[in-house]
Amino acid sequence: MRIFHTIAEIREFVRQARADGHSIGLVPTMGYLHEGHLELMSQAKKQCDTVIISIFVNPAQFGPGEDLASYPRDLDRDAGMAETVGVDAIFNPGVEEIYPSGYCTYVDVERITDRLCGASRPGHFRGVATVVTKLFNIVKPDYAFFGQKDAQQVLVIKRMATDLNMEVEVVTVPTVRERDGLAMSSRNIYLDPAQRQAALSLNRSLKRAAAEVRAGERDAAKIRQLVIDIIKAEPLAEIDYVEIYSHPDLEPVEAIKGPALLALAVKMGRARLIDNIILHV
Ligand code: PAF
Repeated sequence: MRIFHTIAEIREFVRQARADGHSIGLVPTMGYLHEGHLELMSQAKKQCDTVIISIFVNPAQFGPGEDLASYPRDLDRDAGMAETVGVDAIFNPGVEEIYPSGYCTYVDVERITDRLCGASRPGHFRGVATVVTKLFNIVKPDYAFFGQKDAQQVLVIKRMATDLNMEVEVVTVPTVRERDGLAMSSRNIYLDPAQRQAALSLNRSLKRAAAEVRAGERDAAKIRQLVIDIIKAEPLAEIDYVEIYSHPDLEPVEAIKGPALLALAVKMGRARLIDNIILHV
């Protein structure tokens, strides 16, 4: 497995892979890999001849007061993990390589970014869309893999790829969970044991909501309230949002008639955790 820090190097690696007739899969990450990332890479490995992951903690998607400086970073650990699933190359640029001085071009996906995490984290999706566009332009992958845990991110990237005629297929991979149901996240390391226990209420509330829908409940406000009540029963949890929107259009819904995204974000001490489920009638 090769590790590259410059755009010129990764482009040369891609050029050679293409010359060998290889299809290219890209897994963009911010590092501090976990089983969820490894699942993205394994899927990429099944679908593509050459798999590249990027590890770049993207300053453009962090707001003031967020955890940019403290975001966990450990390239040696990440490289060891990526190698176990057969990743061919890691692209690990520095900030200056991606945003050299004088940089002033950004990608803005409208409407679907003004709700959920987009409302709580102004500018977040502008940063995500910009860096993913750059990664797509640098690596020119045939396929790019993203986790369903970041449900809104996947929809934003798919919308952007369609709207901007990008020649890449965006593949969504189901959320990977710990044995007790907590969605895997690099930010889970911020949780102390009590917060870790309280965080189980997120998945528990989503499962309960899905069960209510299966049992015939269609009122989005009632389902939302049920989720809020379950999470609020945990004194350590501070709800940022619990919302239900149509999926994939992210339109507000009152009655659940088709696929609906039930998404939530909850602060648990230093950690801001997100999770979601798609409700089917
Ligand atoms: O999901 C992430 O880790 C990041 O948002 C991404 C897609 C790597 C862009 O920085």
